[in-house]
Amino acid sequence: MAGGAQIRTVVFPVAGLGTRFLPATKASPKEMLPVVDKPLIQYAVEEAVAAGATNLVFITGRTKRAIEDHFDTAYELEHELEEKGKHALLELVRATVPKGVNCIYIRQGEPLGLGHAVHCARPVIGREPIGVILADDLIDGEREPVLSQMAAVHGESGGCSVLGVERVPRDETDRYGVVSGEPVADGITEVTGIVEKPAPEQAPSNLAVVGRYILTPAIFDLLAETAPDHRGEIQLTDAIAALLQMERVVAYEFNGVRYDCGNKLGYLQATVAYGMRHPELGEPFKAYLRGVAGAGH
Ligand code: UTP
Repeated sequence: MAGGAQIRTVVFPVAGLGTRFLPATKASPKEMLPVVDKPLIQYAVEEAVAAGATNLVFITGRTKRAIEDHFDTAYELEHELEEKGKHALLELVRATVPKGVNCIYIRQGEPLGLGHAVHCARPVIGREPIGVILADDLIDGEREPVLSQMAAVHGESGGCSVLGVERVPRDETDRYGVVSGEPVADGITEVTGIVEKPAPEQAPSNLAVVGRYILTPAIFDLLAETAPDHRGEIQLTDAIAALLQMERVVAYEFNGVRYDCGNKLGYLQATVAYGMRHPELGEPFKAYLRGVAGAGH
């Protein structure tokens, strides 16, 4: 495949329990948590659509119905806003439903792990590479959305799988899939190994996979064969380790800043960063923050 490859199908696994964000996630999805005024899942969908996706596959679970409603037409609300002449708000509401794309919802009956969630998408996946976005990793791609950056790397690397990676502090390797390999170009590593959540002293590097993947369709046969781990979960990392034995996989250190919005501190950091550069709220919010900092709170 030539450079500038399009990723037509993107999978959003949103069936996790979100235990790190309780009690907010008791009855509502963590992907609906807003950063300023948009839910995390909307940032993720906008990133997928910017990369050319036309099939959006959501792997949902219990308490996730709000996601389906969010990407559906809200007739009563639109009618009310139209009646009251609130045109700007009407446009905002209409813009949440992505144009020209299919939204497909598949239930993951039990939270059996990220690998299992991705495998649930199989019935609607063709013979093309897919994107996978974990919406709780909000990435500000600065000049270009991260999935678009990765699609370019995918095209330039002969259509192979691409893992979005970031260097993390050594003592945090046990929160991520961690890759080993050889650097082959600026920001690109030829992956030779990948392990799930290694202890810092056993980690092969500090290059951690964060919530962005482009995967060739071979991953689905491998996921079907992947045994559950000691917690009974099927890990995407294990299937990628098997994929490596068959095909080229590269890791790409994207340009951008990642906020782990699955944990409370990361979420607060994202809120501050996105709040400060919001077109209407940015200036008053910065003034407020200066006041708080000055008061030594
Ligand atoms: P996490 O490891 O963040 O788990 O899952 P979680 O359940 O969402 O959150 P915590 O750790 O309990 O707070 C990584 C991604 O995989 C999805 C999650 O929705 C998240 O996007 N996932 C995980 C599933 O879709 N299904 C699963 O069974 C597990």
